[in-house]
Amino acid sequence: MNLPLLRELDDIQARASADLAAAKDDAALESWRVAYLGRRSRLNLILRGLASLPLDERRPVGAAANSLRQGLEEALAQRQAALHEEAVTATIETGRLDVTLPGRPIPVGRLHPVTQTLRDVLGAFEAMGFQVVEGPEVEWDYYNFEAVRIPKDHPARDMWDTLWVDYRRNGDYPMLLRTHTSPMQIRVMEQTQPPVRIISPGKCYRHEATDPTHEWMLTQVEGLAVDEGISMADLKGTLFEFAKRIFGPERRVRFRCDYFPFVEPGAEMAIDCFLCGGQGCRSCANSGWLEILGCGMVHPEVLAKVGYDSERYTGFAFGLGVERIAMLRHAIDDIRLFYSNDLRFLEQF
Ligand code: FA5
Repeated sequence: MNLPLLRELDDIQARASADLAAAKDDAALESWRVAYLGRRSRLNLILRGLASLPLDERRPVGAAANSLRQGLEEALAQRQAALHEEAVTATIETGRLDVTLPGRPIPVGRLHPVTQTLRDVLGAFEAMGFQVVEGPEVEWDYYNFEAVRIPKDHPARDMWDTLWVDYRRNGDYPMLLRTHTSPMQIRVMEQTQPPVRIISPGKCYRHEATDPTHEWMLTQVEGLAVDEGISMADLKGTLFEFAKRIFGPERRVRFRCDYFPFVEPGAEMAIDCFLCGGQGCRSCANSGWLEILGCGMVHPEVLAKVGYDSERYTGFAFGLGVERIAMLRHAIDDIRLFYSNDLRFLEQF
């Protein structure tokens, strides 16, 4: 009998059992297999050395070593199966799907209230045969002022406080952020012969202090119709029809004289205040009315400047404020809410 070898086999068995119980994952199991069943494991060395043992020792040591190897292989397989089962159970436990839970809402984006109103405004004029054209927000002084009869040093420049683009680089040709959409009248007439019937939406910028009805960035829609025989009655008819489509027939409309250098005669249109119903309040600066647009008959000099025969053609033009219209439609008492990015406000539309 080779007692030291048999004792060593017992010892291997004891350590292997303890280590196997401590192995918690595939990597630990693989290390364990290399240590106890691998080519250079002590057990393998004993098995390989059997042939050199005396005959009477070879049988009992061989039987014990082979039985140990078989036992260890089985134990490894069992441990692997157990760990696999534990992993599956854990996945089922943690990833359990409770189909009775309420669904998670998916936030849906929506159009900004000014965009919604702008689309309705454009739709109303398109239905009356106007065509939409767009133009640049950074504009030449020429189109914004000169071509619409507001030469340098003309007092009317004070009507539109201007944000200038670094014009020193452009020498004699200053650029600015357009203060209104009226330059589009000129751009369109330069490119087209009458009859003209266009609307032109876009952002405008003014260097002015804000209050409940004034923002420094505003959206305007310019309108222009030029043809033979166009009169002030066409202008009024078009704008009254527009007001009816956008505000409904029950709202009151005020039409009265105003001055703009590029029209003659000029007028402004206002809608009765949604808050006070015409009594006067903070939102309408106590007037009872909210001005939504300026308009008039295109000045003959403007027509002549773009090469139109001002004896033959006449036209009307208007420029309306889209934020003001959105305020009236939704009873919003401060224009500054539109661009303050408060979701509690915007989510209501
Ligand atoms: C103009 O800008 C002229 N170009 C309109 C025009 C066009 C007249 C064609 C004649 C012919 P005004 O500055 O009044 O005019 O502005 C027109 C409209 O834009 C106003 O009625 C108002 O609805 C809106 N608006 C003007 N300034 C502001 C502002 N600071 N904030 C919000 N809306 C404004």
